[in-house]
Amino acid sequence: MIQLIRGFKDILPGEVALWQHIERTAVGLFAAFGFDEIRVPIMEKTELFARGIGEDTDIVEKEMYTLDDRGGEKLTLRPEATASIVRAYIQHKLYADDPLRKFYTIGPMFRRERPQKGRYRQFYQIDVEAFGMAGPFIDAQMIYMLHLFFQRLGVSRTQAHLNSLGCPVCRPRFREALAALLNKVEDRLCADCRRRQARNPLRVLDCKVPACREAVADAPAIVDYLCEDCRQHFQSVTENLTQLGVPFELDRRLVRGLDYYTRTTFEIQTDVLGAQSAVAGGGRYDGLVETLGGPATPAIGFAVGFDRLVEVLGQSLKIENPKPALFIAALGETARRKAFYWCAELAAAGIYVEMEHADKSLKSQMKRADRLGAARVLIVGDAELASGQANLRDMATKAQAEVVLAGLVDALKQQSIV
Ligand code: HAM
Repeated sequence: MIQLIRGFKDILPGEVALWQHIERTAVGLFAAFGFDEIRVPIMEKTELFARGIGEDTDIVEKEMYTLDDRGGEKLTLRPEATASIVRAYIQHKLYADDPLRKFYTIGPMFRRERPQKGRYRQFYQIDVEAFGMAGPFIDAQMIYMLHLFFQRLGVSRTQAHLNSLGCPVCRPRFREALAALLNKVEDRLCADCRRRQARNPLRVLDCKVPACREAVADAPAIVDYLCEDCRQHFQSVTENLTQLGVPFELDRRLVRGLDYYTRTTFEIQTDVLGAQSAVAGGGRYDGLVETLGGPATPAIGFAVGFDRLVEVLGQSLKIENPKPALFIAALGETARRKAFYWCAELAAAGIYVEMEHADKSLKSQMKRADRLGAARVLIVGDAELASGQANLRDMATKAQAEVVLAGLVDALKQQSIV
């Protein structure tokens, strides 16, 4: 038997209800904050991610699913959505009418990481991006929206971590200080970090290898090197969050795994998923639109790890699949044909009705109705068709009522039966 690919997974019908519930909650909330849905392809030119996310990141160095198209072009299954949305923003001049644009997208991403609980090679993100706003209001608003999202879903045991990564004005000074420390501890670093150390020292701070973590434990923190503009921006963000009642923790060690971030960066972490603690992450990326060939445009966004959120929520929240309002237990060919028409008509009216398609005993049909959780069962055979009346059984109360078959469909449509 052919099994699915390692690190990929099926989301089965019983699980999908929770995914839909989360999606509905997200969409309703995002609409109230003025975010429009955008859908971008799952494959892009490799160069977009290499330039967007950064050549020295784990994602670009070792996690992308890249293939040679037959024309010789290199294409990559998207490891995230931000670069694609920025590309679309530039390509379609989405800034032309109004440079302040807000988007969200929900869909699969692909990273060839080592699979484990909460970490997959195909995973889903709920991704949100806002363009054109340089001031600190939008930073706080996005984090507030994320906070509301988790609150509405009833997710507890999460904590917002917040940091600032500065800007091209203040980062060089920090890089110098960091590089000086890295020089001292070079021989304790992993091969990746030694290679990255000179080109992109910030990446070393994101390394998960315990020896590297230990080696950089005394590394300087970027918040101590912020320029005056970045410092004020960050301070406003924290003040605004406090005013909105969003709890957060300043996390001087938080550096994100993608290179495009500037200033405010954040993660929502949980303690219920073991090693994969981040259920959402994001931040400002004020230089990315320009880097990818667009007009200089400040931007900020985040992505929620949909799979991880489902795992966190699934422990407390059960969303049931809809159950049939009625099961028609039909006995005999004529009754089955009648049931077939009733089912069609009721489904067209939005009422979920099930029936048995094969010639099965009443006992077996009742069993199935029970298994499906049908609210009521109508038992129809030749005798019922002849008398024009049939027995309608309420499966919860076991109450039985004689109903007139002629008006059955209309009565059910008006939900006036029993
Ligand atoms: P990220 O931190 O790489 O950021 O991913 C965001 C979230 O996606 C993570 O916090 C995690 O919940 C989930 N995630 C990442 N990798 C996996 C995986 N292998 N399996 C399951 N879940 C995973 C970004 O992708 C940025 N594009 C976010 C952003 C948007 N920044 C600005 N705008």
